[in-house]
Amino acid sequence: MQIVTVKSYSELSTLAAKLIAQQIKSKPNSVIGLATGSSPVGTYEKLIEIHKKDGLDFSQVTTFNLDEYCDLDRKHPQSYYTFMKEKLFSHINIASKNINFPDEDFDKYEDEIKNCGGIDLQLLGVGNNGHIGFNEPADVFQNKTHRVHLAESTIQANARFFNSADEVPKTAITMGIGTIMAAKKIILVAGAEKAEVINKLKKETVSPQFPVSILHYHPDCTIIYSSSS
Ligand code: GLP
Repeated sequence: MQIVTVKSYSELSTLAAKLIAQQIKSKPNSVIGLATGSSPVGTYEKLIEIHKKDGLDFSQVTTFNLDEYCDLDRKHPQSYYTFMKEKLFSHINIASKNINFPDEDFDKYEDEIKNCGGIDLQLLGVGNNGHIGFNEPADVFQNKTHRVHLAESTIQANARFFNSADEVPKTAITMGIGTIMAAKKIILVAGAEKAEVINKLKKETVSPQFPVSILHYHPDCTIIYSSSS
């Protein structure tokens, strides 16, 4: 795991988008794992720019999103499906049949990833409590795609996207730690507001109580951290 510290969120986004674009150029039918949250928004903006200016072609790309809320219609403005559509999919030439989100059929999601040859590059953000996807701190690492009860701190953190914390779904479906770790390459983007998480990650040994720490064991993981906003 290497941590690349850059000076600004814009630099972080440019670098992450460049690495994703390189992946797609070297393998046009790449399988890309995608993340939601504020952190990757700049990366998606830069990818759209590369698509529009340099013709980066997404026509053969397949995507698998990390997670999705339960009990929220796909069309809900805060569903991760809507988020991805607004922030990326509707601005690039990806085929809608190649876009995948997890649902209650966990085994099917795992099989679909395997049938596509596995994830070539997984983009991640990180929660304030160290969660990746929606893998919250726990006693054990959950391997496969599964349903989770969101931590109170995650509900509070995500309340900013809803009218109130009461409206935030209490459960979600997420890829498991094993699903994420099976990706051939991982890029995690973290802005300046994640300084504490990144410092902890540098020091902490691997523990399911701090899920992002598992990335220490990944053979090709780059953390892009911006020291200021
Ligand atoms: C959500 C998502 C995560 C994301 C995290 C951090 O809980 N499920 O995938 O990494 O938020 O989000 P942000 O980047 O907005 O801090």
